[in-house]
Amino acid sequence: MKTAKRLEGIGEYYFSQKLREIDEMNKAGKQVINLGIGSPDLPPHPDVIKTLHEEALKQNHHGYQNYKGSPVLRNSISKWYKKWYNVELDADTEILPLIGSKEGIMHICMTYLNDGDFVLIPNPGYPTYRSAAKIAGADIVEYKLKEKNNWFPDFNELEKVLETSQSLPPKTERFRGGLMFVNYPHMPTGQLPSREFFVRLVAFAKKHNILICHDNPYSFILNDSPLSLLSIDGAKDVVIELNSLSKSHNMAGWRVGMLVGAKQRIDEVLRFKSNMDSGMFLPLQLAAARALALEQEWHDEVNKVYTKRREKVFELLKILDCSFDENQAGLFVWASVPSNFKDGYELSDKVLGDSNVFITPGGIFGSEGDKYIRTSLCTTEEKIEEAINRMKIKVNV
Ligand SMILES: Cc1ncc(COP(=O)(O)O)c(C=O)c1O
Repeated sequence: MKTAKRLEGIGEYYFSQKLREIDEMNKAGKQVINLGIGSPDLPPHPDVIKTLHEEALKQNHHGYQNYKGSPVLRNSISKWYKKWYNVELDADTEILPLIGSKEGIMHICMTYLNDGDFVLIPNPGYPTYRSAAKIAGADIVEYKLKEKNNWFPDFNELEKVLETSQSLPPKTERFRGGLMFVNYPHMPTGQLPSREFFVRLVAFAKKHNILICHDNPYSFILNDSPLSLLSIDGAKDVVIELNSLSKSHNMAGWRVGMLVGAKQRIDEVLRFKSNMDSGMFLPLQLAAARALALEQEWHDEVNKVYTKRREKVFELLKILDCSFDENQAGLFVWASVPSNFKDGYELSDKVLGDSNVFITPGGIFGSEGDKYIRTSLCTTEEKIEEAINRMKIKVNV
């Protein structure tokens, strides 16, 4: 049996492959320290786990759930958006809980993209935008993010990309074929958004009749001012936003995310999603609602841990002679590799081979990331310290 054409050019996800290689090294006794993947190792708040436990004990909480999610969770998302982002969302019509924001990316591509429609994706950027859009049959149009522009798109270039794109569809149907993924705080570079940039982005989307999907899972990590693209005036006309509890509430394995935006967009995406899956386990939704009610103190505690780890990662990157901006948000530190290495892949392979430490090569996020590496903060200080010691032995400092 041959695989479907739509899988042509889609390989196994990089980390899925790499983790297998690391497993093999561990089986051979190498004790690899994995500074690659961004899966929070800290637990959720104890009240969240308690809620899950208590609600799971109830006899009537085990059936299929509403496709649009529990009203308790939708109300808590609405309050959360108001409190932290100052965005008003109607809990009944403008919120769609998701089984993680990653699945939302696929739903959005399947909802809006036809064969040959174009989708703008950031280079470097989260690899799932590309693969989901490709599976949906769209033409990928990359927009480059460069360090000299603080990892923001150059709007003049974006205009040119749109003008010259062969696949630019007729602008007859609203949003047809015009989808753009944007993600700030940006992964992998850690760049924070600015309100001015967001205002320009919304104006750009309106001018070109493009639907922007803003992916916003990192706004609480090492950042005191969470910002939503929907907080910009008039944004709901052209913006939908993905958010997630994976990073902000240490719940990556729980799979709780959300799509928010205008009622019409939510209804459109629900048409696809409700044919693919069902509502999440109710106790999990109620526990997620508890998580969203946590106060600033929770985020401060989590960020205190990441701040200390980040100091250690800075130390490690200095040993490797990498340079980096110290004001990055999110779960990673993005750093440029020294000139004696061809690219991040070469440095990553060397560090893995010499010190049994895995660091992600920036090239997996797109060609603009080739000269960079990304180090995760999801490992204990002790482990990062051990990685530093292994590297010191190798470079004799
Ligand atoms: C930029 C970005 N978007 C989305 C996701 C997916 O998050 P989740 O599906 O856990 O909500 C990730 C996870 O690493 C990410 O880095």
